Amino acid sequence: MKGSNNQHSLNSASKPFHLQLARFLPYLLLLAFGVTIGIIISFYLKSFSLSQQFNQFSRSSSQNAPPPMPPPPPIEKPIMPHPPIEKPKEVPNSNLMGQVGLKEFIKPSNVVHDMSDEELLWRASMTPKIREYPFDRVPKVAFMFLVRGPVPLAPFWEMFFNGHEGYYSIYVHSNPSYDGSDPESSVFHGRRIPSKIVEWGKFNMIEAERRLLANALLDLSNQRFVLISESCIPLFNFSTIYTYLIHSTQSYVMAYDEHSPVGRGRYNIHMSPVITIEQWRKGSQWFEMDRELALEVVSDRTYFPVFQEYCQVPCYADEHYLPTFISIMFPEKNSDRSLTWVDWSKGGLHPAKYVRPEVTVAFLENLRNQKCKYNGDQQNVCFLFARKFLHTSLTRLLRFAPRVMHF
Ligand SMILES: *[C@@H]1O[C@H](CO)[C@@H](O)[C@H](O)[C@H]1NC(C)=O
Repeated sequence: MKGSNNQHSLNSASKPFHLQLARFLPYLLLLAFGVTIGIIISFYLKSFSLSQQFNQFSRSSSQNAPPPMPPPPPIEKPIMPHPPIEKPKEVPNSNLMGQVGLKEFIKPSNVVHDMSDEELLWRASMTPKIREYPFDRVPKVAFMFLVRGPVPLAPFWEMFFNGHEGYYSIYVHSNPSYDGSDPESSVFHGRRIPSKIVEWGKFNMIEAERRLLANALLDLSNQRFVLISESCIPLFNFSTIYTYLIHSTQSYVMAYDEHSPVGRGRYNIHMSPVITIEQWRKGSQWFEMDRELALEVVSDRTYFPVFQEYCQVPCYADEHYLPTFISIMFPEKNSDRSLTWVDWSKGGLHPAKYVRPEVTVAFLENLRNQKCKYNGDQQNVCFLFARKFLHTSLTRLLRFAPRVMHF
């Protein structure tokens, strides 16, 4: 057996090559088939992982970096400087507060904000295209106090406003270094707007006036805007002043052509051709205007920069900017007179000041009984406010108010 086996193996080894090949052919085919399958599978896997990688790449590139492929991102970026992710931080628990609604838009509850002057003026310049209000709008008078620290005649004003909540808004622009606060019971409490430094006669005075107007415009209920000084008092009770202003067809910005050195003499030839010397006007700083005119003042980007550049001391922008701008652009809207009485009879750069002995019933009655045009008719009311009343006159004013002004 052993021998036959050996022989068999010997025999097979001695067979011709092609016969041996035929014997191994099935195995070779099987091997070739296996290799082919292997190559196909490995190639498929490779191309799958490649396409996977490509997908990942294209997805990550569209998420992280802004490629030129999707057109919106480069345009949207400047419009939305703050990512919306920051929003939820400001929204407290209440569901209502996170909602977009009219309430906060119509009447902001707070006068404090974080806007720069540029942002504030832009925001304040907005006006609804639909003229009818979809809510009960009670028009209010915005009293804008331009002071250094506390309002010196505050007790008198408190008396004036008492009982008329809802018909007025108060805004106080004080020196940024003033850190006092008004008692919670005061009408001035929480009404100080973000302010900047103001110097007598300087250009920053009209910047402060525009800042006050812009802050007051944020409240859509404000219809009339009156600038009040530290030494200013009302000459009539609230209902008389409110009715007078709300029904007035014009605004009250004093404007006249003064040919002397303190008038046209302050004009600068470089203001031409935007402003000619014939258009140059002078007037009192203490204005009263309606909402339409206030919107124009905060939106003015033509005349304001000219004054900024060419009306510096001894040109007093607060005596020329509004009179000139309004006389050129909106002469028909203006009465050209001021509602605030002041005594210039003593001459000089400052008007006469009134201290205690000068404040009498007869004096106040006289100021109340002046004749002026109102909505085209002659009337017995001319000035609604008067200055300059010093703090020392306060006790007398408080005493006379009920009798003379009917507070
Ligand atoms: C306000 O003053 C006017 C006179 O100017 C007077 O007729 C009116 O009764 C006063 N109003 C109130 C509520 O006292």
